[in-house]
Amino acid sequence: MDTQGIDWQNLGFSYIKTDLRYVSHWKDGAWDGGTLTEDNKVHISEGSTALHYGQQCFEGLKAYRGQDGSINLFRPDQNAARMRRSCARLLMPALPTETFIEACRQVVLANERFIPPYGSGGALYLRPYIIGVGDNIGVRSAPEFMFSVFCIPVGSYFKGGLTPANFIISGYDRAAPNGTGAAKVGGNYAASLLPNHEAKERDFADCIYLDPATHTKIEEVGAANFFAISRDGTRFITPKSPSILESITKYSLLEIARDRLGLEVEEGDVFIDQLNQYSEAGACGTAAVITPIGGIQNGETFHVFHSETEVGPVTRALYDELVGIQYSTRPAPEGWVVKVQ
Ligand SMILES: Cc1ncc(COP(=O)(O)O)c(C=O)c1O
Repeated sequence: MDTQGIDWQNLGFSYIKTDLRYVSHWKDGAWDGGTLTEDNKVHISEGSTALHYGQQCFEGLKAYRGQDGSINLFRPDQNAARMRRSCARLLMPALPTETFIEACRQVVLANERFIPPYGSGGALYLRPYIIGVGDNIGVRSAPEFMFSVFCIPVGSYFKGGLTPANFIISGYDRAAPNGTGAAKVGGNYAASLLPNHEAKERDFADCIYLDPATHTKIEEVGAANFFAISRDGTRFITPKSPSILESITKYSLLEIARDRLGLEVEEGDVFIDQLNQYSEAGACGTAAVITPIGGIQNGETFHVFHSETEVGPVTRALYDELVGIQYSTRPAPEGWVVKVQ
């Protein structure tokens, strides 16, 4: 594919085939050395557990072109660690952190021409995944596994970047109280397709899920975590629950809020009937970056936070710090930015 035709300023979040992806196989208790391939098709047994029993997990992280021309990954060790937790939950073999990061590094370098230029607001999104493959039919762990990483250039996930979006509380649960909500596994996302579709039909950016046990507290957004700022502007609060996906962006913001903005930070309960305690709210994630939440529809009630059209001051300050670190224009905490080149 020719990169001449890419409109770097207006990238959305859509698949395009890039040059090379990484692939490695696990068999008889060990991963092989891994290789790069041009082939974007996966040829697997019809009995693969990934196809029938959802034995698969994935990750999402980005490579950023810095102002100084450098290419950097943001906290890839955290993605590697989360992928190991996902693998453990689904009885899949763990992948060493070094292999994970090296695979990402190779894919970024092999597809350097697809990295959006500094200033375009885009980044190279990396999608690592592990799937259970090999001949099988019973409900059991697969005899073989495949690990792969591919990449695509992306812009903003929710339309409009740092302009607020509206969300709706879903009547569906994303995950069960002791289920797989904390793992980044396809089954959670399959279950989210219908709620997401229904939210979009009603013109909302996505839905927000409540805790599956009591349906009284905010859990997370379909593809991002949730945070809010207290009415007096001094506290950053984000839901704590065993059934949400632990967002690397969220934990980064928590540290930024505490160490750079001087806010108190808290992981706790955000009750859906007490939203007037908060002046601002946002959805955060690798793809979403920070999307300010304008308002939340809950049944017949529509609650507006700061504004439906303007980003709030604390959300903007958090965004500027986070994005500054990612694009190397602000100093990064130790170990957060991993140079690819
Ligand atoms: C369900 C869900 N929650 C939260 C996140 C945000 O996580 P992270 O900040 O690690 O990208 C994502 C995206 O990866 C997600 O899919």
